[in-house]
Amino acid sequence: MTQIAPMLLSLLATGSLILAGCAQPSTNAPRRSRELFGTVDGKQVFLYALSNGKGMEARITNYGGIVVALVVPDRAGKPGDIVLGYDSLSSYLKATPYFGAIVGRYGNRIGKARFTLDGKEYTLKANDGANTLHGGLKGFDKVVWEPDESTPPSEPVLKLKYVSPDGEEGYPGTLTATVTYTLTDSNELRIDYSATTDKPTVLNLTHHSYFNLAGAGSGDILSHELMLNADRFTPIDSGLIPTGELQSVEGTPMDFRTSTAIGARINAKDDQLRYGRGYDHNWVLNRTGNGLSLAARVSEPASGRAMEVWTTEPGIQFYSGNFLDGSNVGKGGKVYAYRTGLCLETQHFPDSPNKPQFPSTVLKPGEKFTSTTVYKFMTR
Ligand code: GLA
Repeated sequence: MTQIAPMLLSLLATGSLILAGCAQPSTNAPRRSRELFGTVDGKQVFLYALSNGKGMEARITNYGGIVVALVVPDRAGKPGDIVLGYDSLSSYLKATPYFGAIVGRYGNRIGKARFTLDGKEYTLKANDGANTLHGGLKGFDKVVWEPDESTPPSEPVLKLKYVSPDGEEGYPGTLTATVTYTLTDSNELRIDYSATTDKPTVLNLTHHSYFNLAGAGSGDILSHELMLNADRFTPIDSGLIPTGELQSVEGTPMDFRTSTAIGARINAKDDQLRYGRGYDHNWVLNRTGNGLSLAARVSEPASGRAMEVWTTEPGIQFYSGNFLDGSNVGKGGKVYAYRTGLCLETQHFPDSPNKPQFPSTVLKPGEKFTSTTVYKFMTR
């Protein structure tokens, strides 16, 4: 007995002994669960809950890959849901300005809803005046993704797959896209994208959460402070299509190289802000190499919540929720008024298929597209 006790103590200390009747070690606790959210096109739609055991929780549906809720603690440790969205699937089906969705096949705008690839012109569905926006009339935000639950439920991981048929919304090639959401132990929501095609096509996948770090529905985002790691942006015309130039942010309201309140210059007399009705532009990220690089940092003084955005992409669309007008009644009956959410959409530049000088968005058969974006949360 005297020899067994020290042995038991050492096994307990190294964690290699699990006594019958004790709680399961936290590493095996379920961190992904699901409930039925509804049915779309005869397919079951689920609401998944991922938790990281550190106070962060993400609720994600396989309809549109939508992040329905993202719960993050504030400075005092109090949890709060910091993304705009709806309580029910039927509300997402009625009308949504892409709340929390995966956007594709081509996120952002393509001018005049057409482009030429390998000498052939492709006509897309125009859904933003004469232009196409966020994949067209029925983009990747409005389809049921196939959930892959092969990872054990002890891992806060959700894999989704969508096969977009050749010609869908006018785009060539059958595109097989996967999106993997992971909630990490370091309070990150990580999104890994991949895609393959059977014909040359164009592709720009992004994520469209509207963040309000004070809590969804708690007011406007104008006192949020933003840093964008970008010396240049892509100026737009009045239809929000890039002119093709890369313009220095120096001396303009687009300069977020040092952290600045979003509201500080948003109403300045400036053509770019007039065209965008506020901020709705793509910034050219300062980056070296192909790995994850810091794109943006945003913080909200009252709650103390802060978020960093890291990405492998060359650009980021900062959209200050200028089209929100109070017509969307969201979770808990909260009304989402003008500029009450902000989007930081990592991406290739808008209208790249018509701008040969921009980084290419062409994907060819035999190639594998990969892209990663991390939203990392902390408090100050
Ligand atoms: C993007 C666009 C905006 C707007 C929103 C959705 O961020 O750049 O102009 O269309 O999506 O409302």
